[in-house]
Amino acid sequence: MKLIPGTNGEIAVKIGRFLGESPDFIQIEKLPYGEKYVRIPFDVGREVAVVNTFFPNPDEILFESRLIGEILRERGAEEIVLVAPYLAYSRRRTAIYGEAKSLETVMDILGVFDRIVAVDFYGHVSSVECISAMPLLAEYIEEEFDLKDPVVLGPDEFSTNWLDAFSEKLGAETAVIKKIRIDAKNVVVSKIEADVRGRDVVIADDIIATGATVIQSAKKLRSMGAKRIFVAVTHALLDKEVYASILKSGIEEVIATDTVLSPVSRVSVAEMIAGLL
Ligand code: R5P
Repeated sequence: MKLIPGTNGEIAVKIGRFLGESPDFIQIEKLPYGEKYVRIPFDVGREVAVVNTFFPNPDEILFESRLIGEILRERGAEEIVLVAPYLAYSRRRTAIYGEAKSLETVMDILGVFDRIVAVDFYGHVSSVECISAMPLLAEYIEEEFDLKDPVVLGPDEFSTNWLDAFSEKLGAETAVIKKIRIDAKNVVVSKIEADVRGRDVVIADDIIATGATVIQSAKKLRSMGAKRIFVAVTHALLDKEVYASILKSGIEEVIATDTVLSPVSRVSVAEMIAGLL
């Protein structure tokens, strides 16, 4: 299978190592007046995987991926896969009157692909093959830190989607954090129904965006007497300031995957993705 990285396709090199393939880089330019220019000046073959992660510029990557997919289709590729290690627009879980149905539109635009593979994507659309990095993250945490009687916490009721996959590896008790999201940047943690006093805690999350969820949870956990607090997260959409605030909140370590490259990307999903190609 040919591997074609998009603008955010660095992980294609690692995926390629497991497939015995070197990625074929294509011409992608941002023109001086802001438009995207894409050209594939070589034979594309029958099976192609386009690798593009949807952060930090999700809308641009969406459009670019569509352009690449269209060229591949025109050039006669028979199976075109989009590998989006982090696929954006999964977080809009309730529809409010007047809101755009962003995820549906995203899926329409990506309809040019025969398959879409993403990691820990909980938008629950049948067109996306979702694989979970939670067992890998749990394995890493278990090997690196000598956890004492740990409790694994999910950041809200939706985390039951991945909580068992994480806690099974550690053989740990689980609970769900009760939180109310006020707006994109503000979260109130109302309750954590677990006995955390004197115990190590791991928050297992799919995404860190503003950091509000883990920072407020850490605050609550400290007031409840938790010992060390770790965060294991698949997609760390971190900027420097968010990372600094997380560390200041008393969280011992944040461990993330390389779906999005960040200073805390310690676990690679490349082999797992290669297994699906
Ligand atoms: C729940 O909505 C998700 O699992 C994450 O906890 C959430 O997306 C994190 O976002 P933030 O870092 O902005 O609180």
